Amino acid sequence: MTVNTIRRDFELFRSVDPPVYFDNSATTQKPDYVIKACEDFYRSSNANPLRGLYDLAIDATDRYEDARKTVASFIGAGDPCEIVFTRNTTESLNLISECIASAVEIKEGDNIVVTVSEHHSNLLPWQRLSKRTGAKLVFIEPDITGLISDEEIDKKITERTRIVSFAHVSNVWGRENPVMKMISAAKTVGAVTVIDGAQAVAHMDVDVNALGCDFYAFSGHKMLAPMGIGVMYGKKAYLKKMDPYMLGGEMIEYVTREDATFAEIPHKFEAGTVNAGGASGLAAACRYISKTGFNYIRDQETRVTEFLMKEMYWIQGIKIYGSNDPSEHHGIISFNIKDCHPHDVASILNADHICVRAGHHCAQPLMQYMGIGSCVRASVYAYNTLDEAQRFIDSLSRVRKVLGY
Ligand SMILES: Cc1ncc(COP(=O)(O)O)c(C=O)c1O
Repeated sequence: MTVNTIRRDFELFRSVDPPVYFDNSATTQKPDYVIKACEDFYRSSNANPLRGLYDLAIDATDRYEDARKTVASFIGAGDPCEIVFTRNTTESLNLISECIASAVEIKEGDNIVVTVSEHHSNLLPWQRLSKRTGAKLVFIEPDITGLISDEEIDKKITERTRIVSFAHVSNVWGRENPVMKMISAAKTVGAVTVIDGAQAVAHMDVDVNALGCDFYAFSGHKMLAPMGIGVMYGKKAYLKKMDPYMLGGEMIEYVTREDATFAEIPHKFEAGTVNAGGASGLAAACRYISKTGFNYIRDQETRVTEFLMKEMYWIQGIKIYGSNDPSEHHGIISFNIKDCHPHDVASILNADHICVRAGHHCAQPLMQYMGIGSCVRASVYAYNTLDEAQRFIDSLSRVRKVLGY
């Protein structure tokens, strides 16, 4: 596998003078293979899945359920019925936080534990649950490089903890949290574990069974699949006990004027017409990533990240957040340049056809913790090259001068 072989699979990179796409944490590009899988669904199997009794609808249903099996095996879930299709990580986390109280008692005096570095999607839903139940939101505080100590875990996860929810990989620091240690601490006190895998699934071999987590949420669009399809993995025992999230068609067993009984899992959580085209694309993305291999993905990301961090070091006034070790960044480099507003930096890079993200990255409590309002984030993936990294460095080196410093 070489980076050039991979790049040939993407329309954007085949174009004349493609931009340097360093905004992969926001969303990745999509390979032809994935686009074709979505297209195939709509061209050859389009009917409303799970409803019709005619061949075309049965084919649509089969494709949708096959996609579920592919995703289950991609993340090591024991049973495809533990895979609920949602729109994205945000919806998955909202579903869990809205419905968990029907399976687990949460009351005043209990704790819900998150970390200070959570994306808003893994914070606001827990804020609401905390307000509704009276349970206290407790924050695990990493050090300023994003490292969470064993002592902090043992201090914050206590007998009162009912839920522990945190990002597998931070979308600002790019650092992997001590997942095994946190899950084990949560299990010791009988707490439910929820992992936000949005920044992990495309970058490392995730095995929910080996992790032993109760829930795992992620988005298709950050792992080469289309927008509008996401996953909520949940252990069967919890899913069976939990009330449904949304009510309506597809998720029922029997309805009378006054009442309803619900379908079995996972369909109980998939109200309304499903996104079967998106699910087909997501399954294709799982196959594409498996074929590419996590060894290659990790090597290429680390090679480019290493080069970037080494060269960025020489830029006057630069501050890179997180670990000094490029292999601990999972392709994410967040930074600021002294006296330069992150939006200005991103605009100057854009003038050189370089795409990066600037802002608070939906992690305002983390920005407050770091004592900044915002920062620039460059995020690379398996298809990014050292030449692109050099273009980025050349452009970034000019920023201060362009701004008159
Ligand atoms: C760590 C993390 N969690 C959750 C999300 C939300 O993902 P989505 O917008 O696909 O729901 C993101 C998106 O950037 C993220 O980085």
